[in-house]
Amino acid sequence: MKVNGHTGILGVLGCPVKHTLSPAIHDLLIEKFNLNFIYIPLEVSRNNFEKFIKGISRIDNFAGFNITVPYKNDVMKHLDEISKEAKLINAVNTVKIQNNKMYGYNTDDFGFIKSIELNYPKFKTAGKKVLMLGAGGASKAVAFALLKNKISKLIILNRTYKNGIKLRNALKMNFKHSDIIVEKLNFNYLNNARGSTQFHDLIINTTSIGLKKDDKILLDLKYLKGHNTLVYDLIYNPTKTGLLKKASAYGLPVLNGLDMLILQALKSFNIWTGIELENKLLKYIMPLRTKLRKML
Ligand code: ATR
Repeated sequence: MKVNGHTGILGVLGCPVKHTLSPAIHDLLIEKFNLNFIYIPLEVSRNNFEKFIKGISRIDNFAGFNITVPYKNDVMKHLDEISKEAKLINAVNTVKIQNNKMYGYNTDDFGFIKSIELNYPKFKTAGKKVLMLGAGGASKAVAFALLKNKISKLIILNRTYKNGIKLRNALKMNFKHSDIIVEKLNFNYLNNARGSTQFHDLIINTTSIGLKKDDKILLDLKYLKGHNTLVYDLIYNPTKTGLLKKASAYGLPVLNGLDMLILQALKSFNIWTGIELENKLLKYIMPLRTKLRKML
């Protein structure tokens, strides 16, 4: 990496950001395209967030940044323009700075849908019945992406029922005619609703449960044995959560969150640099998978 007076700055803003893989992704892309950019972690505590965000667009060579927990929503009121997707998801994960103005985007929905398309090209999202575990920050981008791609039914299973309803109400504002139901999270949900299990085409965990080794498994998948339900966990570290291990043991197709992480980053990179990657996603995803897997 050669830094000089012309180097453009990119980064990831959050607190904490010590474990982020984003610099590793963008480093590789910057190198591949031989660009004069540097991508750095920007750990900013809550007390300093307002001052930081007000000042950052004054740096002429700051080209943009990603935003992670806990600022994806807080950043929005400081931006000059916000994309339609980011407004609907109510979260921004990518900011582009141009002429001291800040433009906000959300690339998570792109990352999510493309990760399924790339790994399971035969799985067409339209018309599918989806069971989503969780109703937190990550859930909204996933639900938005699924509804935009015309799934026929979304069942939200959440520990706190009222948080599920809140998410449903927010989604309903933009997807009035969509079939969205909320149920309280229950390990035996599929067993109780046994007769309808064959209708779940996709089960996706958007909660943080599974990050720790001794985390419990939120849903009994036993009755899916013999079905073709795709089980997706947004968690990528560990690469196989307890839920995915169970799903594999029952012969179900599985996917973790690593490709989504890479794909949302590729889209951010496209926004900052204008370099078109969409028709060569596989070409760029391969070396990134290899690099990140070594770091996990
Ligand atoms: P993020 O923004 O990273 O998605 P979050 O907003 O805190 O994180 O959401 C975490 C999700 O995990 C929520 O759906 C949460 O359920 P509640 O709405 O009941 O809080 C879910 N979650 C967290 N801990 C959980 C647990 N021990 N069991 C089941 N669900 C849990």
